[in-house]
Amino acid sequence: MKILGIESSCDETAASVLEYDGNGYKVCSDIVASQIEMHARYGGVVPEIASRAHCEAVTGITEKALSEANITLKELDCIAVTAYPGLIGALLVGVNFAKSLAYANNIPLVAVDHIRGHIAANYLTQKTEYPFIAFVASGGHTSVVLVSGRDKHKVIGGTRDDAMGECFDKVARVMGMPYPGGAAMDKLAYEGKPEIQFPSAAIHGDTLDFSFSGIKTAVLNYLNSQNQQGKEINRANVASSFVSAAVGSVIKKLTLAIDMYPCVKGIALAGGVAANSHLRTEVGELCKKNRIALYMPELRYCGDNAAMIAAEGALEFEKKNFAPLSLNADASRWEN
Ligand code: KG4
Ligand code: ZN
Repeated sequence: MKILGIESSCDETAASVLEYDGNGYKVCSDIVASQIEMHARYGGVVPEIASRAHCEAVTGITEKALSEANITLKELDCIAVTAYPGLIGALLVGVNFAKSLAYANNIPLVAVDHIRGHIAANYLTQKTEYPFIAFVASGGHTSVVLVSGRDKHKVIGGTRDDAMGECFDKVARVMGMPYPGGAAMDKLAYEGKPEIQFPSAAIHGDTLDFSFSGIKTAVLNYLNSQNQQGKEINRANVASSFVSAAVGSVIKKLTLAIDMYPCVKGIALAGGVAANSHLRTEVGELCKKNRIALYMPELRYCGDNAAMIAAEGALEFEKKNFAPLSLNADASRWEN
Protein backbone atom coordinates (compact mmCIF):
# COMPACT_ATOMS: atom_id res chain seq x y z
CA MET A 1 0.00 0.00 0.00
CA LYS A 2 0.98 3.63 -0.51
CA ILE A 3 0.29 6.01 2.31
CA LEU A 4 0.69 9.78 2.60
CA GLY A 5 1.66 11.02 6.07
CA ILE A 6 1.05 14.61 7.17
CA GLU A 7 2.54 16.12 10.33
CA SER A 8 1.97 19.60 11.76
CA SER A 9 1.83 19.17 15.55
CA CYS A 10 4.53 21.67 16.51
CA ASP A 11 7.07 23.62 14.47
CA GLU A 12 7.69 21.32 11.51
CA THR A 13 5.37 20.95 8.54
CA ALA A 14 6.06 17.53 7.07
CA ALA A 15 4.71 15.18 4.41
CA SER A 16 5.94 11.77 3.35
CA VAL A 17 4.93 8.98 1.03
CA LEU A 18 5.56 5.52 2.43
CA GLU A 19 5.14 2.10 0.87
CA TYR A 20 4.17 -0.74 3.17
CA ASP A 21 3.92 -4.38 2.08
CA GLY A 22 2.67 -5.84 5.37
CA ASN A 23 6.22 -6.59 6.40
CA GLY A 24 8.55 -3.65 5.83
CA TYR A 25 8.43 0.03 4.91
CA LYS A 26 9.97 1.98 2.06
CA VAL A 27 10.21 5.74 2.48
CA CYS A 28 9.52 7.10 -1.03
CA SER A 29 9.73 10.74 0.06
CA ASP A 30 10.23 12.57 3.31
CA ILE A 31 9.84 16.34 3.23
CA VAL A 32 10.20 18.49 6.35
CA ALA A 33 9.86 22.28 6.45
CA SER A 34 11.23 23.55 9.72
CA GLN A 35 9.98 26.80 11.27
CA ILE A 36 12.90 26.97 13.71
CA GLU A 37 14.24 30.25 12.32
CA MET A 38 10.85 31.91 12.79
CA HIS A 39 10.66 30.92 16.44
CA ALA A 40 14.35 31.23 17.37
CA ARG A 41 14.19 34.95 17.99
CA TYR A 42 11.44 34.43 20.58
CA GLY A 43 13.39 31.66 22.33
CA GLY A 44 10.64 29.08 21.84
CA VAL A 45 7.69 28.10 19.67
CA VAL A 46 5.04 30.83 19.29
CA PRO A 47 1.83 28.85 18.66
CA GLU A 48 0.12 31.52 16.52
CA ILE A 49 3.17 31.87 14.26
CA ALA A 50 3.40 28.08 14.01
CA SER A 51 -0.23 27.74 12.84
CA ARG A 52 0.15 30.43 10.21
CA ALA A 53 3.40 28.96 8.93
CA HIS A 54 1.79 25.50 8.65
CA CYS A 55 -1.04 27.08 6.59
CA GLU A 56 1.48 28.58 4.20
CA ALA A 57 3.61 25.45 3.90
CA VAL A 58 1.28 22.46 3.98
CA THR A 59 0.11 22.44 0.34
CA GLY A 60 3.57 22.92 -1.18
CA ILE A 61 5.17 20.37 1.15
CA THR A 62 2.53 17.78 0.28
CA GLU A 63 2.92 18.41 -3.47
CA LYS A 64 6.66 18.01 -3.09
CA ALA A 65 6.27 14.73 -1.17
CA LEU A 66 4.00 13.36 -3.91
CA SER A 67 6.22 14.50 -6.76
CA GLU A 68 9.43 13.19 -5.15
CA ALA A 69 7.71 9.84 -4.69
CA ASN A 70 6.54 10.07 -8.29
CA ILE A 71 2.97 9.33 -7.31
CA THR A 72 -0.40 10.99 -7.85
CA LEU A 73 -3.15 11.46 -5.27
CA LYS A 74 -5.27 8.88 -7.09
CA GLU A 75 -2.68 6.18 -6.41
CA LEU A 76 -2.78 6.67 -2.64
CA ASP A 77 -4.44 4.01 -0.48
CA CYS A 78 -4.59 6.12 2.63
CA ILE A 79 -3.85 9.51 4.18
CA ALA A 80 -2.52 9.54 7.75
CA VAL A 81 -2.46 12.73 9.78
CA THR A 82 -1.21 13.61 13.25
CA ALA A 83 -4.34 14.47 15.24
CA TYR A 84 -2.91 14.53 18.80
CA PRO A 85 -1.13 15.59 20.96
CA GLY A 86 0.46 18.94 20.09
CA LEU A 87 -0.32 22.62 19.68
CA ILE A 88 -4.01 22.80 18.89
CA GLY A 89 -3.83 25.49 16.19
CA ALA A 90 -0.90 23.71 14.53
CA LEU A 91 -2.63 20.31 14.62
CA LEU A 92 -5.83 21.76 13.17
CA VAL A 93 -4.02 22.90 10.03
CA GLY A 94 -2.80 19.38 9.22
CA VAL A 95 -6.06 17.71 10.25
CA ASN A 96 -8.25 19.99 8.15
CA PHE A 97 -5.92 19.83 5.18
CA ALA A 98 -5.83 16.02 5.34
CA LYS A 99 -9.62 15.83 5.70
CA SER A 100 -10.14 18.01 2.62
CA LEU A 101 -7.63 16.04 0.58
CA ALA A 102 -9.18 12.72 1.63
CA TYR A 103 -12.73 13.89 0.96
CA ALA A 104 -12.00 15.49 -2.41
CA ASN A 105 -10.12 12.44 -3.66
CA ASN A 106 -12.12 9.74 -1.93
CA ILE A 107 -9.13 8.37 -0.02
CA PRO A 108 -9.47 6.69 3.41
CA LEU A 109 -8.21 8.86 6.27
CA VAL A 110 -6.63 7.72 9.54
CA ALA A 111 -5.75 9.74 12.65
CA VAL A 112 -2.32 9.18 14.17
CA ASP A 113 -1.01 9.75 17.65
CA HIS A 114 2.22 11.77 17.44
CA ILE A 115 3.96 9.92 20.30
CA ARG A 116 3.13 6.53 18.83
CA GLY A 117 4.47 7.95 15.59
CA HIS A 118 7.81 8.68 17.28
CA ILE A 119 7.97 5.06 18.49
CA ALA A 120 7.05 3.86 14.97
CA ALA A 121 10.09 5.75 13.60
CA ASN A 122 11.99 2.74 14.92
CA TYR A 123 10.18 0.40 12.52
CA LEU A 124 11.21 2.35 9.41
CA THR A 125 14.74 1.03 9.17
CA GLN A 126 15.12 -1.91 11.56
CA LYS A 127 13.36 -5.02 12.78
CA THR A 128 12.38 -5.03 16.44
CA GLU A 129 11.64 -7.87 18.80
CA TYR A 130 8.90 -7.58 21.41
CA PRO A 131 8.61 -6.76 24.21
CA PHE A 132 10.87 -3.73 24.33
CA ILE A 133 10.99 -0.57 26.39
CA ALA A 134 10.66 2.68 24.46
CA PHE A 135 12.12 5.82 25.94
CA VAL A 136 10.32 8.66 24.16
CA ALA A 137 11.73 12.12 24.79
CA SER A 138 10.92 15.23 22.81
CA GLY A 139 10.31 18.92 23.39
CA GLY A 140 6.84 18.21 24.77
CA HIS A 141 6.92 14.63 26.11
CA THR A 142 9.02 12.22 28.11
CA SER A 143 7.69 8.72 28.67
CA VAL A 144 8.83 5.21 29.34
CA VAL A 145 6.61 2.82 27.42
CA LEU A 146 6.44 -0.96 27.52
CA VAL A 147 5.82 -2.06 23.94
CA SER A 148 4.64 -5.69 23.91
CA GLY A 149 3.46 -5.77 20.31
CA ARG A 150 3.01 -3.53 17.28
CA ASP A 151 -0.24 -2.26 18.81
CA LYS A 152 0.39 -2.90 22.50
CA HIS A 153 1.69 0.07 24.45
CA LYS A 154 1.67 0.62 28.17
CA VAL A 155 3.06 3.77 29.77
CA ILE A 156 5.16 2.69 32.75
CA GLY A 157 6.83 5.99 33.58
CA GLY A 158 7.41 9.55 32.50
CA THR A 159 8.12 13.08 33.54
CA ARG A 160 6.08 14.72 36.25
CA ASP A 161 6.92 18.22 35.03
CA ASP A 162 9.19 19.41 32.20
CA ALA A 163 9.91 17.25 29.17
CA MET A 164 13.57 16.28 28.69
CA GLY A 165 13.91 18.26 25.44
CA GLU A 166 12.25 21.27 27.05
CA CYS A 167 14.81 21.03 29.86
CA PHE A 168 17.69 20.94 27.33
CA ASP A 169 16.22 23.93 25.50
CA LYS A 170 15.70 26.00 28.66
CA VAL A 171 19.19 25.35 30.00
CA ALA A 172 20.65 26.07 26.55
CA ARG A 173 18.70 29.31 26.39
CA VAL A 174 20.11 30.67 29.67
CA MET A 175 23.54 29.73 28.38
CA GLY A 176 22.95 31.93 25.34
CA MET A 177 22.34 29.22 22.73
CA PRO A 178 19.63 29.77 20.09
CA TYR A 179 16.37 27.78 20.25
CA PRO A 180 16.21 24.80 20.21
CA GLY A 181 19.47 24.32 22.04
CA GLY A 182 19.42 20.54 22.55
CA ALA A 183 21.81 19.72 19.70
CA ALA A 184 24.22 22.57 20.58
CA MET A 185 24.28 21.42 24.20
CA ASP A 186 25.04 17.87 23.02
CA LYS A 187 28.09 19.21 21.14
CA LEU A 188 29.36 21.62 23.79
CA ALA A 189 29.31 18.87 26.42
CA TYR A 190 32.24 17.15 24.63
CA GLU A 191 34.45 20.18 25.29
CA GLY A 192 34.07 20.11 29.08
CA LYS A 193 34.29 17.89 32.11
CA PRO A 194 31.31 16.84 34.27
CA GLU A 195 32.79 18.47 37.37
CA ILE A 196 29.69 20.22 38.69
CA GLN A 197 27.20 18.17 40.68
CA PHE A 198 23.67 18.72 39.41
CA PRO A 199 20.77 16.74 40.91
CA SER A 200 19.37 13.66 39.22
CA ALA A 201 16.08 13.89 37.34
CA ALA A 202 15.31 10.30 38.34
CA ILE A 203 12.65 10.39 41.04
CA HIS A 204 13.80 8.48 44.09
CA GLY A 205 12.38 5.00 44.69
CA ASP A 206 10.57 2.30 42.83
CA THR A 207 9.09 4.47 40.11
CA LEU A 208 10.05 5.05 36.50
CA ASP A 209 9.19 8.74 36.76
CA PHE A 210 11.38 11.79 36.26
CA SER A 211 11.40 15.42 37.31
CA PHE A 212 13.44 17.47 34.87
CA SER A 213 12.51 20.84 36.38
CA GLY A 214 14.90 20.24 39.30
CA ILE A 215 18.02 19.94 37.12
CA LYS A 216 16.97 22.98 35.14
CA THR A 217 16.58 25.07 38.31
CA ALA A 218 19.89 23.78 39.69
CA VAL A 219 21.73 24.89 36.53
CA LEU A 220 20.05 28.31 36.65
CA ASN A 221 20.94 28.72 40.33
CA TYR A 222 24.53 27.70 39.64
CA LEU A 223 24.87 30.22 36.81
CA ASN A 224 23.28 33.02 38.89
CA SER A 225 25.44 32.30 41.88
CA GLN A 226 28.63 32.25 39.79
CA ASN A 227 27.61 35.56 38.20
CA GLN A 228 26.79 37.19 41.54
CA GLN A 229 30.14 36.17 42.94
CA GLY A 230 31.85 37.52 39.82
CA LYS A 231 33.27 34.06 39.10
CA GLU A 232 34.04 32.94 35.60
CA ILE A 233 31.71 30.33 34.13
CA ASN A 234 33.18 27.43 32.21
CA ARG A 235 30.26 26.87 29.80
CA ALA A 236 31.63 23.59 28.49
CA ASN A 237 31.88 22.19 32.02
CA VAL A 238 28.32 23.31 32.75
CA ALA A 239 27.11 21.63 29.54
CA SER A 240 29.07 18.46 30.28
CA SER A 241 27.78 18.32 33.88
CA PHE A 242 24.20 19.00 32.82
CA VAL A 243 24.21 16.41 30.03
CA SER A 244 25.84 13.88 32.33
CA ALA A 245 23.17 14.46 35.02
CA ALA A 246 20.30 14.32 32.51
CA VAL A 247 21.53 11.23 30.65
CA GLY A 248 22.58 9.58 33.92
CA SER A 249 19.01 9.98 35.19
CA VAL A 250 17.66 8.19 32.12
CA ILE A 251 20.19 5.36 32.54
CA LYS A 252 19.18 5.00 36.18
CA LYS A 253 15.50 4.59 35.34
CA LEU A 254 16.09 2.38 32.30
CA THR A 255 18.24 0.12 34.50
CA LEU A 256 15.33 -0.10 36.93
CA ALA A 257 12.91 -0.73 34.05
CA ILE A 258 15.02 -3.69 32.85
CA ASP A 259 14.97 -5.05 36.44
CA MET A 260 11.21 -4.61 36.67
CA TYR A 261 10.53 -6.12 33.24
CA PRO A 262 13.21 -8.80 32.77
CA CYS A 263 11.32 -10.14 29.75
CA VAL A 264 12.29 -7.16 27.58
CA LYS A 265 14.39 -7.90 24.53
CA GLY A 266 15.53 -4.37 23.85
CA ILE A 267 15.36 -0.64 24.45
CA ALA A 268 14.17 1.75 21.77
CA LEU A 269 14.89 5.46 21.76
CA ALA A 270 12.39 7.82 20.18
CA GLY A 271 11.64 11.54 19.81
CA GLY A 272 13.91 14.53 19.16
CA VAL A 273 16.11 13.83 22.20
CA ALA A 274 16.86 10.37 20.77
CA ALA A 275 19.30 12.27 18.54
CA ASN A 276 21.45 13.01 21.60
CA SER A 277 24.78 11.31 21.04
CA HIS A 278 25.56 10.86 24.74
CA LEU A 279 22.19 9.22 25.30
CA ARG A 280 22.66 6.94 22.28
CA THR A 281 26.09 5.86 23.51
CA GLU A 282 25.12 5.30 27.14
CA VAL A 283 21.88 3.47 26.40
CA GLY A 284 23.90 1.38 23.94
CA GLU A 285 26.29 0.41 26.73
CA LEU A 286 23.40 -0.38 29.05
CA CYS A 287 21.89 -2.68 26.43
CA LYS A 288 25.22 -4.39 25.81
CA LYS A 289 25.67 -4.98 29.54
CA ASN A 290 22.22 -6.54 29.75
CA ARG A 291 22.57 -8.42 26.45
CA ILE A 292 19.49 -6.86 24.94
CA ALA A 293 19.04 -5.00 21.66
CA LEU A 294 19.30 -1.25 21.17
CA TYR A 295 16.84 0.23 18.69
CA MET A 296 17.32 3.79 17.47
CA PRO A 297 15.70 5.64 14.60
CA GLU A 298 18.11 7.08 12.06
CA LEU A 299 18.93 10.66 13.07
CA ARG A 300 16.62 12.19 10.45
CA TYR A 301 13.67 10.22 11.88
CA CYS A 302 14.28 11.25 15.52
CA GLY A 303 12.82 14.76 15.20
CA ASP A 304 9.34 15.44 13.87
CA ASN A 305 8.74 13.98 10.42
CA ALA A 306 5.84 12.51 8.46
CA ALA A 307 7.40 9.14 7.54
CA MET A 308 6.87 8.02 11.14
CA ILE A 309 3.25 9.25 10.97
CA ALA A 310 2.66 7.28 7.78
CA ALA A 311 4.25 4.19 9.41
CA GLU A 312 1.86 4.38 12.35
CA GLY A 313 -0.96 5.24 9.94
CA ALA A 314 -0.38 1.96 8.10
CA LEU A 315 -1.26 0.13 11.31
CA GLU A 316 -4.47 2.14 11.75
CA PHE A 317 -5.32 1.33 8.13
CA GLU A 318 -4.79 -2.38 8.73
CA LYS A 319 -7.06 -2.15 11.77
CA LYS A 320 -9.61 -0.37 9.54
CA ASN A 321 -9.66 2.37 12.13
CA PHE A 322 -10.71 5.04 9.65
CA ALA A 323 -11.28 8.60 10.79
CA PRO A 324 -14.61 10.28 10.04
CA LEU A 325 -14.73 13.68 8.39
CA SER A 326 -15.75 15.04 11.80
CA LEU A 327 -12.23 14.20 13.04
CA ASN A 328 -11.00 16.87 15.42
CA ALA A 329 -7.52 17.62 16.73
CA ASP A 330 -6.79 17.21 20.42
CA ALA A 331 -3.92 19.05 22.13
CA SER A 332 -3.48 16.67 25.04
CA ARG A 333 -4.91 13.28 24.16
CA TRP A 334 -2.44 10.45 23.98
CA GLU A 335 -3.44 6.92 23.05
CA ASN A 336 -1.24 4.28 24.53
O1 KG4 B 1 10.46 15.32 18.59
P1 KG4 B 1 10.84 16.74 18.37
O2 KG4 B 1 11.45 17.11 17.03
O3 KG4 B 1 9.62 17.69 18.56
C1 KG4 B 1 8.66 17.50 19.55
O4 KG4 B 1 7.77 16.65 19.35
O5 KG4 B 1 8.81 18.19 20.58
O6 KG4 B 1 11.85 17.11 19.56
C2 KG4 B 1 12.45 18.37 19.64
C3 KG4 B 1 13.32 18.38 20.88
C4 KG4 B 1 13.86 19.78 21.22
O7 KG4 B 1 13.67 20.01 22.59
C5 KG4 B 1 15.34 19.65 20.87
O8 KG4 B 1 16.20 20.51 21.60
C6 KG4 B 1 15.59 18.20 21.22
O9 KG4 B 1 14.46 17.52 20.72
N1 KG4 B 1 16.83 17.72 20.61
C7 KG4 B 1 17.92 17.33 21.32
C8 KG4 B 1 18.90 16.97 20.38
N2 KG4 B 1 18.39 17.15 19.12
C9 KG4 B 1 17.11 17.61 19.29
N3 KG4 B 1 18.10 17.25 22.65
C10 KG4 B 1 19.30 16.80 23.07
N4 KG4 B 1 20.32 16.46 22.23
C11 KG4 B 1 20.16 16.51 20.89
N5 KG4 B 1 21.16 16.15 20.06
ZN1 ZN C 1 7.68 15.12 18.20
